[in-house]
Amino acid sequence: MPTQKKLLRALSGETLPTPPIWMMRQAGRYLPEYLATRAQAGDFLSLCYNPDLAAEVTLQPIRRFGFDAAILFADILLIPQALGMDLWFETGEGPRLSTVTSQAEVDALRPVEDIHETLAPIYETVRNVAENLPKETTLIGFAGAPWTVATYMIAGRGTPDKGPAHAFKAADRVAFQALIDRVTAATIEYLSAQINAGAEVVKLFDSWAGSLNGADFDDFAIKPARDIISALKTRHPDTPIIAFPREAGERYIGFAQATGADCVALDNSVSPQWAADNVQINGCVQGNLDPRHMVSGGQALVDETRQILRAFSGGPHIFNLGHGITPTSDPANVQLMIDTVRDGESVSS
Ligand code: CP3
Repeated sequence: MPTQKKLLRALSGETLPTPPIWMMRQAGRYLPEYLATRAQAGDFLSLCYNPDLAAEVTLQPIRRFGFDAAILFADILLIPQALGMDLWFETGEGPRLSTVTSQAEVDALRPVEDIHETLAPIYETVRNVAENLPKETTLIGFAGAPWTVATYMIAGRGTPDKGPAHAFKAADRVAFQALIDRVTAATIEYLSAQINAGAEVVKLFDSWAGSLNGADFDDFAIKPARDIISALKTRHPDTPIIAFPREAGERYIGFAQATGADCVALDNSVSPQWAADNVQINGCVQGNLDPRHMVSGGQALVDETRQILRAFSGGPHIFNLGHGITPTSDPANVQLMIDTVRDGESVSS
């Protein structure tokens, strides 16, 4: 179909001469227009729950850079909030939540069918963006994967080694599993509602998958992703799904097949050539430029971008960073990355 959007073509397995490009955290603090809109909303969470302003910041990077995809502006921690937990952001520090560390506290979470009460404004944002997106741009919805979301619910904040979550898992595996199951069920309903509102692709962020070892990786990274993806595929068979088991290393091999994902997003700790040989042979991959290049720029950015393009040129590929863009990044470096990707000469030179 000649009119099909580029991102959807790559996700259906097509090898394109120039890959589609978008960027994790593309709406964010490195953009002055984002900071202005956040100030207008008051704070980050008020921005997430304001459908007009959230749609506006979703569209800002599309207007400025012409990315091939827009990602819904929201956060993975809205699910814990919709399940009844307190959530706030400490300026300069990050998220804080009330905690869940026992079976009784898992049981006390709000029922999954009630999450839409809190999350209705997010679906409104999706509808707003879908109505205002250029026709060639794809709208991506998202959620956190259950393990990553649970690490914040258990610790009440980000933790360097995910120690509290590992400790809860070791102390009471039944209660821990119940928490994973509750988040899994909520995530299915949340993503399904985003798709009904107009999300054309959804992405599952498992930012802390790399801290799961051995059988834990199978039980808490692969299995919840497989459960979510199979439920979504039953309801929305035509909606592609991107999985991001960050820092999975060798466990990236076969992850798409094991979970049913249409594409696996790669972090920048794996070499593009290794990933092409071992992961892309089975289907579409996304990634994986080191986000530090968005701060430092220059020839190193160009060289590394070209290396990634070359490595993945033999199969379906979506160009992206290996993790989110950081606040001190220079928008001019984002433009340089895009120009390098879209310059047809770059792969052969
Ligand atoms: O990619 C996008 O532009 C879409 C929006 C989006 C945000 N967060 C907005 C945000 C997405 C997809 C996320 C995902 C997210 N949120 C993840 C998984 C991806 C990853 O980065 O590993 C995680 C772990 C979170 C939880 C979270 N949200 C943390 C730990 C923080 C604080 C750290 C930080 O970067 O400030 C946030 C805040 C957050 N989420 C911001 C944005 C734009 C910054 C808030 C601000 O404007 O001050």
